[in-house]
Amino acid sequence: MTSHGSNQTRHWQALDAAHHVHPFSDTAALNKEGVRVITHGEGVYLWDSEGKKIIDGMSGLWCVQVGYGRRELADAGYEALKTLPYYNHFFKTSNPWTIELAAKLATLLPDGHDHVLFANSGSEANDSALKLIRYYWNLKGRPEKKIHLSRDYAYHGVTMAAASLSGLTPMHPQWDLPLPGFAKVPAPYWYGAKEAGYGDIGSDEFGHLIAKKLEERILEIGPDRVASFSAEPIQGAGGLIFPPATYWAEVQRICARHDVLLHIDEVITGFGRTGECFGSQTYGIAPDVMTMAKGLSSGYQPISAISLGARMSDTILNANEELVHGYTYSGHPVACAVALKNLEVIERDGLVPRVKSEIGPYLLRRLKETFDGHPIVGEVRAQGLLAAIELVRDKAERKFFPDPGNIGTHCRNYCFADGLVSRAIRDTMVLAPPLTISESEIEEIIAKLKSAIDRTAKDLGRA
Ligand SMILES: Cc1ncc(COP(=O)(O)O)c(C=O)c1O
Repeated sequence: MTSHGSNQTRHWQALDAAHHVHPFSDTAALNKEGVRVITHGEGVYLWDSEGKKIIDGMSGLWCVQVGYGRRELADAGYEALKTLPYYNHFFKTSNPWTIELAAKLATLLPDGHDHVLFANSGSEANDSALKLIRYYWNLKGRPEKKIHLSRDYAYHGVTMAAASLSGLTPMHPQWDLPLPGFAKVPAPYWYGAKEAGYGDIGSDEFGHLIAKKLEERILEIGPDRVASFSAEPIQGAGGLIFPPATYWAEVQRICARHDVLLHIDEVITGFGRTGECFGSQTYGIAPDVMTMAKGLSSGYQPISAISLGARMSDTILNANEELVHGYTYSGHPVACAVALKNLEVIERDGLVPRVKSEIGPYLLRRLKETFDGHPIVGEVRAQGLLAAIELVRDKAERKFFPDPGNIGTHCRNYCFADGLVSRAIRDTMVLAPPLTISESEIEEIIAKLKSAIDRTAKDLGRA
């Protein structure tokens, strides 16, 4: 493995500081510190320009399902690049890779989802989904159905519409969002229920209660005005919020009762992350429209897709007019070629059943054995290869630390220093490793995380 050494690193840091504005970062503060330059990856590991080896407990941004350095995916992209580096789908044309990817997805998607549109990111997919929802209701002669509901703590991306849909409030003030026509309902965050004033309520009861809040909101706005409810099967960037067992069935009954379209955002939960191909399958959800990205290509190429259930596709595809929507790069041949190969690898290597019955249960068991009795760990929860370790002030009372985010960031910094990428969301430590991770690599992650959490507890005087 090559390392570039300090001079090269300083050169890159200086250029980065001079010319590159970072996403979700205070660039000025970052420039003082200097960025870490990641130079290559292999399996579940990354290396920086100083030669430091890092274990990636987050699959990049929850996306590298098959791990880094997969030659087959690179070759598939290279073949497409040499053969047809670009063409579009606007002018009565298509290409073999896009056609085959659309057909492949139709075999994996929930029943009735036989049609997909392509885009380039999760945000674009969600933006497109909202446009398609609006169009559907216009075609149905119900143009007054325009309000989009979503949840507190939701993350659906950063375009004007996707950010409006998101329920992470710090995402809004800089841009005067949300746009009109967006409304929120509570998240089914059972661990936080006590602190949020719901009392000592059981998880099943809480699931019903929070679903009912959706119905109350629909009735308050008026079902005739509510177009859709958007939700991730498991809320990811909002803190890995797993729905209580009762939640999704009740939500679906409510959406059906009030004729509200169900938009499921599978950007994180798609392609094996939860132990099924889609989180919708894990939770028995039948979406009207579904969005996916990340794991579709394992992040090797930017690509996303929107799938339409029968109800929406029957109406939209029989409108007898042009669908006035699409991107220059929708269904890009290189991205589709890489995605196809990625899906082939996931299937061939049996990664989804592996997550469901082997490595997912192993991760949960080992996290529980390690952290259940820890003085500052309130809850360990996981589904497939999505895991959360909630750091708390008071375990018995399920009380969080004041100033949410401080302790989590403190612990995350210890992880980084030790060569582990974990993410802190508020004070919840989150893991979402590649689906290929081995038991011994999980042990390495757990050992590093334990050391970071132990040191955090010691700094708090709680060791
Ligand atoms: C559930 C969910 N939806 C949408 C997005 C946005 O995707 P992108 O960053 O590709 O625009 C993300 C990104 O993390 C996500 O987690």
